[in-house]
Amino acid sequence: MTKRTILLHPDPRLKAVCDPVDAFDKDLRALADDMLETMYDAPGIGLAAPQVGVMNRMLVMDCVKDDLAAAEPMVLINPRVIDASTDLNVYDEGCLSIPDQYAEVERPARVKVEWSDLDGKTVQKEFDGLWATCVQHEIDHLNGKLFIDYLKPLKRQMITRKMQKLKREIARGL
Ligand code: NI
Repeated sequence: MTKRTILLHPDPRLKAVCDPVDAFDKDLRALADDMLETMYDAPGIGLAAPQVGVMNRMLVMDCVKDDLAAAEPMVLINPRVIDASTDLNVYDEGCLSIPDQYAEVERPARVKVEWSDLDGKTVQKEFDGLWATCVQHEIDHLNGKLFIDYLKPLKRQMITRKMQKLKREIARGL
């Protein structure tokens, strides 16, 4: 397993619509392992392939926050929301591509998602709570959408300017 570099906003690869996965091979398994390692190391609860520069429709997540509970790593390939509750939930969201920036985002409280597993088998599951927020946030990544795109323009620009500054500092090795 190899830890991958997480792209930071702003980056054109984080604004692009990703392509469906069509080859369920050992390379895909290796990518899933790398993405899980990268996510746990960050640490984060979700990571989408474009965040590591792979422009395919795939995400990993594990929303178990209790350190004493067993990990629940999930790999979702070509995921799509097939049903969403009308009642909404608000979470203070963050993103590994937008470090240290958080904002409240409103989304459906429960979603039913269909995806393929690593063998190409179709899976359906209903998510609620933090899992529902996370899976919607990660699927958004596959469509080039970030959580800051839900915010008012002024707030979004403020966060983007902070991130541009952070990226300049990283480039200078500060
Ligand atoms: Ni994110």
